[in-house]
Amino acid sequence: MKSMLVVMAAAAMFAAGTVQADDALKGCVKCHDAEKKKVGPAIKDVSAKYKGNKDAEAMLVAKLKDGKGHPKAKESDAELKAAVQQMLK
Ligand code: HEC
Repeated sequence: MKSMLVVMAAAAMFAAGTVQADDALKGCVKCHDAEKKKVGPAIKDVSAKYKGNKDAEAMLVAKLKDGKGHPKAKESDAELKAAVQQMLK
């Protein structure tokens, strides 16, 4: 019975995480499409480009925040971090 509760709690956490992740990208999708180049590169291309690069997340968050080489983002640090993490998955 106890293990059942653990499984349910884990499932609930996973579901909540998914909703947040989708939300995280809502300010980005007007310029970034999942599959195709739009104003900015496709999310799948960004993901492929930085795959396995563990410094990419911090570098990209800084780039978005400062608006250097990217249209300056109005999102908070936490939101940018979540959005970049979602893109790099
Ligand atoms: C106003 C349009 C616009 C919005 C909104 C936007 N982007 Fe971009 N993004 C671009 C453009 C244009 C580029 C290509 C810039 C370049 O590399 O010259 C880009 C490139 C990127 C890259 C690749 C950078 C690199 O160094 O390869 C990432 C990652 C990225 N955007 C993340 C985001 C995230 C996360 C958000 C939402 C918080 C976002 N973008 C919102 C236009 C936008």
